[in-house]
Amino acid sequence: MGTAEIEEILSAASPDEIEAIRRRAEQVLLENVGDAVHYRGLVEFSNICSMNCLYCGIRSGNRLVNRYMMSEAEILDSAMWCAEAGYGSIVLQSGERRDPEFVEFVVGIVSAIKRKTVSPDIPEGLGVTLCVGEQTLDVYRRFREAGAHRYLLRVETSDPGLFVKIHPVAQTLASRIRALEMLREAGFQVGTGVMIGLPGQTIKMLAADIVFMKRMDIGMIGMGPYIPHNAAPMAEWVCGEWTQERTFRTALLMIAAARMDLKDVNIAATTALQAIDPVGREEGLRFGANVIMPQLTPLRYRSDYLLYENKPCIDEDRGKCRKCLEGRIHSVGRKIGLNEWGDAPHYTRRGH
Ligand code: 5AD
Repeated sequence: MGTAEIEEILSAASPDEIEAIRRRAEQVLLENVGDAVHYRGLVEFSNICSMNCLYCGIRSGNRLVNRYMMSEAEILDSAMWCAEAGYGSIVLQSGERRDPEFVEFVVGIVSAIKRKTVSPDIPEGLGVTLCVGEQTLDVYRRFREAGAHRYLLRVETSDPGLFVKIHPVAQTLASRIRALEMLREAGFQVGTGVMIGLPGQTIKMLAADIVFMKRMDIGMIGMGPYIPHNAAPMAEWVCGEWTQERTFRTALLMIAAARMDLKDVNIAATTALQAIDPVGREEGLRFGANVIMPQLTPLRYRSDYLLYENKPCIDEDRGKCRKCLEGRIHSVGRKIGLNEWGDAPHYTRRGH
């Protein structure tokens, strides 16, 4: 799709127009990916972070956060539960650290998960996705060799001016893009995404984000609304143009546009959608998403991993999250793909 067409989709405002777009996106989803929704059990294993992103609740400058790191035993317990629940894949997410101790920890835990979750149901063990920020090519290779095969690294925005505005000077768009390239070089299925409704963000920029993801040959997308966090400096920025209602609607239209343009990729219905609307994730699925990330982070850590205000699901244990999601997925007429990695056809069609 050309930029103009994407911009038109993202600008839709009347219920009829929006419903027509939703149906087109759903059609593209069913034709290219099918009706199964795949799970990625989410373990937020540490909120210790060396970055200081201006939007994020766990930025290094936030002294009010109680910092934690889950033990290897706790993470393995989550992984075993994940495998037994039939989720098929796990996502290990944390704040960004590049010190050798952290890298070794991640390598160790990934190998342990791969080893211990092999079963007749998933003969190659859980699919492991990492979401631990920018690292060197060598580190990415080690993570890949340990057995992780997917990596999520959001670009946050592909607009150079906006990227600079929302990050400290030490973080650059160029190095984020280079990291995405290195991830591919290391053999990962690569996911990225953006936040929607950032102060100063325009429809043009969001359309350019979709063009960027297509150009980078991205196979997985995780994007959602930007939601202010009181302890982050960006919460003070006046942002008249992005009401919650418009942010939410645009986030759904971004999912639809990405589905229509990139077609055979995995797109997550992210938790942030549900922070704005109680049925936000179901809406994400209806607009073309096919992946959901059930919470596996132990309850006692959840309230210390608040990237934004109003984060939902912080008081329901993993068993409740599972039941709740089953209902949500069935409520929109979709089925659940259990005991499968659920790689995007984007990869399986190409044979890697
Ligand atoms: N609102 C929405 N999403 C956020 N993230 C971080 N802070 C916020 C916020 N205030 C997202 C970023 C990051 C992901 C892990 O969480 O996009 O990549």
